[in-house]
Amino acid sequence: MKKLSLIVIMAGLIMFAGKSYAYLAHKTTSSNETVYVASADNAAVKYPKGAKIFKEKCAACHQLTGMGVPGAFPPLKGSDFLKSATKARLIEQVLNGSNEGLTVNGVKYSIPMPPQVDNYSDAVAVINYILNAWGNNYGKATLADAKGIKIKR
Ligand code: HEC
Repeated sequence: MKKLSLIVIMAGLIMFAGKSYAYLAHKTTSSNETVYVASADNAAVKYPKGAKIFKEKCAACHQLTGMGVPGAFPPLKGSDFLKSATKARLIEQVLNGSNEGLTVNGVKYSIPMPPQVDNYSDAVAVINYILNAWGNNYGKATLADAKGIKIKR
């Protein structure tokens, strides 16, 4: 029990740090609202809606850099999971979250991820952003990939 509350407090601190960082990064780029991460980030230009959702909902844990937080939140940049999972599996991840644990680049992560978005269009937008941000070149999801996925909440 003690260990669990420590994990929860740590996760809270990490999320807080991530949010402050997101705020700072936002401030420095506020002269051009469409540039969400860095000017070199073509994915933000190609998928502005996904970039916005990422910044608002995902960056607190996965960080604006997509590098995650070692031991707690897995990286999206260079993630073998992201590269090899079906697009439907990825859409499901952001719609329904996951709590079974998963392995990314050989490291096991077991903190659950809560559901993040509540519709297919937002899910596809943010997945396309992460598939192509930070040098990732992992393809494209479409609304057809979301077909049949149940939104559980
Ligand atoms: C509260 C922290 C948190 C937030 C917010 C969050 N995630 Fe996650 N994410 C996690 C955790 C923890 C895992 C590992 C899940 C597990 O063990 O079942 C994960 C796993 C993933 C994975 C699969 C593993 C990988 O690294 O490739 C993807 C893809 C993903 N998240 C995308 C997103 C996207 C996109 C968003 C925003 C829409 C988001 N996450 C928001 C914590 C978070």
